[in-house]
Amino acid sequence: MTGIKAQDAIALLKEDHRTVARLFKEFESAKGDDRKEKLARQICLELSIHTAIEEEIFYPACQGTVDEDLLKETYVEHDAAKLLMAEIEAGSEKCDEFFDSKVKVLQEEIEHHVEEEEKPGGLFAQARKGKMDLDSLGEKLAARKKELTGSYKATGLPEPELTTMEEVSV
Ligand SMILES: [Fe+2]
Repeated sequence: MTGIKAQDAIALLKEDHRTVARLFKEFESAKGDDRKEKLARQICLELSIHTAIEEEIFYPACQGTVDEDLLKETYVEHDAAKLLMAEIEAGSEKCDEFFDSKVKVLQEEIEHHVEEEEKPGGLFAQARKGKMDLDSLGEKLAARKKELTGSYKATGLPEPELTTMEEVSV
């Protein structure tokens, strides 16, 4: 063993996807409100960090390399997921009734997001074809991920910041 090898950007983001998929699977078979709540919080934490590092670092680096419409869709998908995560985190009474459903819908949204990024010809494939420096991007993503994990664990998740939506009240 030569120690931990640094991951390139795509390998790191794919690993995030696997981590969250595993947590959603655990949620599906989890019993008891406490266990479910703990898993849901873990899912929201992992996803908040993942969406943040993609939006702050990876997607901007993809500009000009990846199809613009595809890139725009991923921002909208992220915003939809952030809204659901805020609901799940808030834990209101209404949320109790629809808690499992909200986690399920979040899971479906994220599965779609993962598909869009990982499928042949998808966002990651397009990024690999371009001239992006994926190794140095991987380092930046890892450093920011470490920083955000520390601060989110200390202070909780921030209010969702939507990139593509105006705040609406319905
Ligand atoms: Fe992703």
